[in-house]
Amino acid sequence: MTISDTLKNWYKNNARDLPWRNTNDAYLIWLSEIILQQTRVEQGLPYYLAFAKAFPNLQKLSKASEDQVLKLWQGLGYYSRARNMMFTAQQIANHNNGIFPNNYKDILALKGVGPYTAAAIASFAFGLPYAVVDGNVFRILSRYYGVELPINSTKGKKYFEVLAQKVLDIENPATHNQAIMEFGSLLCKPKNPDCNSCPLSDSCVAFNQKRIALLPIKEKKLKIQNRYLHYILLNDGKRIFIEKRDYSGIWKGLYQLPLIETVENITVDNVIPLIMENEILKNQDFELKEVREKIHKLTHRNLHIRFYWIEIAEMPKANYLSILCSDWNDYAFPQPIHQFLSSIF
Ligand code: ADE
Repeated sequence: MTISDTLKNWYKNNARDLPWRNTNDAYLIWLSEIILQQTRVEQGLPYYLAFAKAFPNLQKLSKASEDQVLKLWQGLGYYSRARNMMFTAQQIANHNNGIFPNNYKDILALKGVGPYTAAAIASFAFGLPYAVVDGNVFRILSRYYGVELPINSTKGKKYFEVLAQKVLDIENPATHNQAIMEFGSLLCKPKNPDCNSCPLSDSCVAFNQKRIALLPIKEKKLKIQNRYLHYILLNDGKRIFIEKRDYSGIWKGLYQLPLIETVENITVDNVIPLIMENEILKNQDFELKEVREKIHKLTHRNLHIRFYWIEIAEMPKANYLSILCSDWNDYAFPQPIHQFLSSIF
């Protein structure tokens, strides 16, 4: 027996009787899938029934007023779903003789319809061989086959799409798709799946390796922090100022140029007053010779770095290390500063 056969057998005995499963009307299936996009079955069901009663077909919906539609949608949230449906109903009524598109590509082109919903409508209404891929499908396939690719990575998504299509019963895509969704929502649940009564457990990799709770894998998306660093290269023709970084971080212990950090990305014109306030420039005439910018990308951070090359007549007294320009390479600098200095001296 294939995995699809097992799922369909299970479905035959365990499926909930849901109204959108007793129809192949594309409009009603579309309605149910849009409602179920961000909503649980129990919560969505009364809305589906009320909506299908008020607007039993696409023509009726295309003539509805926005107020009427939003009133029926009230409480479901994500109201753009309802507005997109009205827009699409009008478009189909006006430009497609009121006939719902009957192929995957045209269904996918409808406003508010993504690959999951397009596959659901194409298979449930038209019997077309497109596998649905949603959170349920990711979970079942990653557990059953022991796939460790993160389900929210590009590579992982692609892998699961191909795998879902491979295990699809192309003779009976509608039942297969309903079965895999129902199996994911009733048995192979995210938490505490019912492995003891699972008909797939004998050959389920995650179950056999006791890794059910570890799959599927979701990659933590790191929040990238932005930092805005303004380095000042103060130069009287002979010397520059540097300092040793003593605080923590990846550049701890390295040398750097006098630094001003801002919390946001402010313009050069707005940085100049901050530089003038700094002890290294107090009461001195100076010439801003050049400004260079670079973005230095680290795993968790984007460093937005600017170098301000400033010429002055004489180095002031300041709490920095004053070194000869020719000696700059005796000190260890972070890579972007090293690169900058090597381009100057
Ligand atoms: N969630 C989304 N689509 C569904 C469907 N057709 N049946 C049950 N739950 C669903």
